[in-house]
Amino acid sequence: MPNPAVQPAARGRAYDSAFLRACRHEPVPHTPVWFMRQAGRSLPEYLKVREGIPMLESCMRPELVKEITLQPVRRHKVDAAIFFSDIVVPLKAVGIDVDIKPGVGPVIADPIRTKADLQRLRPLEPDDVPYITEAVGLLVDELGQTPLIGFAGAPYTLASYLVEGGPSKNHERTKAMMYGEPELWAELVDRLAQITSAFLKVQIAAGVSAVQLFDSWVGSLAPDDYRRSVMPASTKVFDSVADLGVPRIHFGVGTGELLGLMGRAGADVVGVDWRVPLGEAARRVGLGKALQGNLDPAVLFAPTHVVETKAREVLHAASALGGTGHIFNLGHGVLPSMDPDALSRLVAFVHEASAR
Ligand code: CP3
Repeated sequence: MPNPAVQPAARGRAYDSAFLRACRHEPVPHTPVWFMRQAGRSLPEYLKVREGIPMLESCMRPELVKEITLQPVRRHKVDAAIFFSDIVVPLKAVGIDVDIKPGVGPVIADPIRTKADLQRLRPLEPDDVPYITEAVGLLVDELGQTPLIGFAGAPYTLASYLVEGGPSKNHERTKAMMYGEPELWAELVDRLAQITSAFLKVQIAAGVSAVQLFDSWVGSLAPDDYRRSVMPASTKVFDSVADLGVPRIHFGVGTGELLGLMGRAGADVVGVDWRVPLGEAARRVGLGKALQGNLDPAVLFAPTHVVETKAREVLHAASALGGTGHIFNLGHGVLPSMDPDALSRLVAFVHEASAR
């Protein structure tokens, strides 16, 4: 069923790509496939060009961003590129002292925990991120008919890094603020919604053909808390880019119990991790949304015939839903220790097994 929420605005040469057609629920010659975190440490060519350059600095060098974004497209023949950046780049751009520590993740020097701390989270202006505009422009020229996916972190996931001060297993300080200081929390996620919206708009204005909102850690919330304390801010982000003619993808991990609400938050495509089969995910997400997913990334460590059996199961589950509106992906990101050749073989397999 075509999704009327996706405007048929021309987004250049990628408009008729399998990926964008699948986002719009249109027939495709084969199921499109790309991988979250496809650019990165699983690729020797990535490790080589990143040598000696800190992660966040690499995100500010347009020529390097272009090269790293293109690497998995060249190697794996995926149907879409994802812009090489990070969810904390816009936080750094508004002046938050954040660093990405290798093997750890984002670390915030002075966490945001009080009303006074919030003043440090000013709105993002396009002039704060000229390197994003430049890198997207370079990429769109080079990619031609291959779509470029822009992205940002969702308010909850960004808030968890800002409040905890770094990666966290239980998100206890974040939840303590959400439960204990609801007004402070509401202002925090509202400010983050503005920053995220502005960051996505910069990427869309520069030419990306779809955007994905990563709410990686939202699966730690109960549905009622998500609905009350998080969903309004995510909806604000989706609404802010609703009229810009690009499909909006929403992704989180461990979100089985949240899929219905995430579907209602405003995206056109909902990402599903491996814990919920696609048929059940479609029932929870509701009519009219395309689905993205959902092979368990760990399957890639098994022998090829197992990878293919499991990939075929995902394709079957999707075709039982009517054969349109599916983008093949992993249920979460590529792991650094994955064999890149296994990923390339998987792309070829998905294309072949789904050819119509
Ligand atoms: O290929 C792509 O998907 C595009 C690039 C991308 C990166 N980060 C590059 C990166 C994307 C889409 C992200 C999003 C991101 N960043 C998320 C959401 C996606 C998810 O996996 O759930 C999150 C939670 C972050 C925060 C973050 N940044 C983490 C947890 C890490 C890993 C820390 C580590 O070393 O294990 C980072 C760093 C990071 N971002 C790397 C890359 C390639 C690794 C750093 C390096 O190569 O030095």
